[in-house]
Amino acid sequence: MKRIGLLTSGGDAPGMNAAIRAVVRSGLYFGMEVFGIERGYSGLMEDNVVPMEMRSVSNIVQCGGTKLRTARCLEMLTKEGQKQAVATLEKHGIEGLVVIGGDGSFRGAKVLSEEYGVPTIGIPGTIDNDLEYTDYTLGFDTAVNTCLDIINKLRDTMTSHERVSVVEVMGRHCGDIALYSGIASGAEIIVVPEIAFDMDEIVMRINRSRANGKHSNIIVVAEGVMDAEQFARQLQSVTKHSVRPTCIGHVQRGGSPSMADRMLAAQFGNKAVRLLNDGLGNRVVGIRNNKIIDMDIIEAVSMKKTFNYELYETLQMISM
Ligand code: F6P
Repeated sequence: MKRIGLLTSGGDAPGMNAAIRAVVRSGLYFGMEVFGIERGYSGLMEDNVVPMEMRSVSNIVQCGGTKLRTARCLEMLTKEGQKQAVATLEKHGIEGLVVIGGDGSFRGAKVLSEEYGVPTIGIPGTIDNDLEYTDYTLGFDTAVNTCLDIINKLRDTMTSHERVSVVEVMGRHCGDIALYSGIASGAEIIVVPEIAFDMDEIVMRINRSRANGKHSNIIVVAEGVMDAEQFARQLQSVTKHSVRPTCIGHVQRGGSPSMADRMLAAQFGNKAVRLLNDGLGNRVVGIRNNKIIDMDIIEAVSMKKTFNYELYETLQMISM
């Protein structure tokens, strides 16, 4: 394979730039020409294609966001959009494609592979950690660390005023950002879409912690359950303690990637190009049990994300 393309799609995630760098440099290592496609699948349809050189990716390993920019592209679900995308690839003689994105982006990659025969490799780039086939997605670690930084600060002011903080984190339908940031910040309670919550039990846990000498509480609520303001209103109506809502929002999508995300980016990007260089396509890369893996894209997108109930129980046992 002599010419490959690369795009980022869907919500950006810290580490995408480091993955772009790894793909470009690995491609050049194998003697390939590498083309960056700007603005995800939208840019692919609109022929926003730029050649990438060694120096095009200098000084970006530490940057959040994505140098290629990104978009959510509904046209990729239509036959017309797909044909336009394939026409751009053909125009530039691009024989293989690397797609960095989440679940929705992988569905586009699957169509290109399956229906149009374009060898495509998916790199899981999303803060949500909502893909079952991989233990971690690119950007999740940094996003959780950003949440931790904010929750630490909230703990300071909540303790001073003896308040309850309701902190909303992202994750779409997945509770992993809430689960990990809840455990790692010492939050007393997490509320996730995977487990029905009981407000009476939450009030009981708050009261028990106060009786045990605690001066504040942190409740991490995943956006897939409800927003922080609504949750805080409901809680305030049944507790005498002062409740304050905070929505972390898009702050958790930005920032310099953590060491863990930069390491994933380097390995995912390199593995994706190795697969294309070996003549393989229609696969995704990931990490399982600390090993970089690849698997069939159709199998990967059909797997249903499972929730780690053991970690949830851990939080219940140690946060009080
Ligand atoms: O998929 C990443 C994510 O940040 C989700 O956690 C969130 O639900 C969504 O994207 C927000 O999307 P947008 O940036 O389009 O508002």
